[in-house]
Amino acid sequence: MKVVVLENADQAADRVSAEILEALQKKPDLVLGLATGSTPIGVYSRLIQAHQVGRVDFSRVTTFNLDEYLDLPPDHPQSYRFFMHKSLFSGLNIHPSKIHFPPTQGPDLPGQCERYEARIKDCGGIDIQLLGIGSNGHIGFNEPTSSLASRTRIKTLTEKTLRDNSRFYESLETQPQMAATMGIGTILEAKKILLQAFGIKKADAVRAAVEGPVSAFWPGSALQLHPDVSLYLDSESASKLSLLAYYRRVEQNQEYLRQRDSK
Ligand code: F6R
Repeated sequence: MKVVVLENADQAADRVSAEILEALQKKPDLVLGLATGSTPIGVYSRLIQAHQVGRVDFSRVTTFNLDEYLDLPPDHPQSYRFFMHKSLFSGLNIHPSKIHFPPTQGPDLPGQCERYEARIKDCGGIDIQLLGIGSNGHIGFNEPTSSLASRTRIKTLTEKTLRDNSRFYESLETQPQMAATMGIGTILEAKKILLQAFGIKKADAVRAAVEGPVSAFWPGSALQLHPDVSLYLDSESASKLSLLAYYRRVEQNQEYLRQRDSK
């Protein structure tokens, strides 16, 4: 795992958006796995900015979102479709037919989930998966005890996740209790994974993901099984890492190697 500790969320968003834009320049039909929540907002605004000044074209890009709440219609202000439209899609030129969300409406959700997985495969797999992490270690809505081999399916949200997200709702009763989410197995098939985490609330989850044993109880720890994961952290979310000084030194040495290579 590559652990990059930065001063703040803005610096992380600069680095992550630069990685995505560079990949897009190399592969105009990039397949992106996308997250919602507060963590990726800085990345999304930078992608929109780059598009609007004409630096990049998203017309051949395909996207797959990680998760969506069960039974919320797309125009519901708390739905992840609504969030994505507002924070990203409305500012880019992605063709609507290339935007995908896990299924949360209509009959035969298991069958629809299988077709979601098949669609990802048909598109050649996810090139870059963007992730946040829950304070309980969830990635996507793979809550603690999710199988490390899980695929897209409906999950019941834990009390902790409901509480973390309750700021968006008037009362717990109106908050959806279930969501469709890509599985941990699905996420691990992405070619590259970029995870961002900010704030002290994420410090335990980050520590478990990076330095803990691989365990279904801390779903982020499954990322240790993936060959190309980078974590972009601010100083608070990184504050419980026992090898923090080492990760900083690795980054400095990487920078030395980059400069040495460019000579
Ligand atoms: C959202 C998602 C979740 C969030 C996590 C962190 O699509 O998959 O795993 O990334 O709950 O949420 P924020 O960014 O709001 O702290």
